[in-house]
Amino acid sequence: MQGSKRTLITLLISISLTASPELISLHNQGKIISSTNSKEILVREIETFVVEINGISCEGCANRIKAQFDSKPFVIDSKVYFKNQSAIVSVKSGTYNSNDIETWVKMVDFKYGAKVIQQYIKTVEEE
Ligand SMILES: *[C@@H]1O[C@H](CO)[C@@H](O)[C@H](O)[C@H]1NC(C)=O
Repeated sequence: MQGSKRTLITLLISISLTASPELISLHNQGKIISSTNSKEILVREIETFVVEINGISCEGCANRIKAQFDSKPFVIDSKVYFKNQSAIVSVKSGTYNSNDIETWVKMVDFKYGAKVIQQYIKTVEEE
């Protein structure tokens, strides 16, 4: 009796331990969106910047620039392309301007030349 109870508790603990890293990683990927505000805001605006970046010399360099974008709190998504030396950065509308984006690239390495060549706002409806 005593033994099986302990086994059950151990099992429950190990289940919760294995489940949480997954939850954390889902959260990091932005798949779980905090539900505290979503009931009030049914529509949100996403601002997208298309950036031309000169001087990306490797795939890893592109990833470092992407990591820099993703570290900003209001960046929703970013992609950096080594192939055509450009990036696409989506942010919560009204939080950043093109100068911010260009500065972030310079902060990774001053050798990069960054220029926002396109900027648009998209409205996304939430469920
Ligand atoms: C670079 O390539 C990607 C994917 O191939 C594309 O989505 C993006 O628009 C391109 N960038 C520019 C500036 O054309």
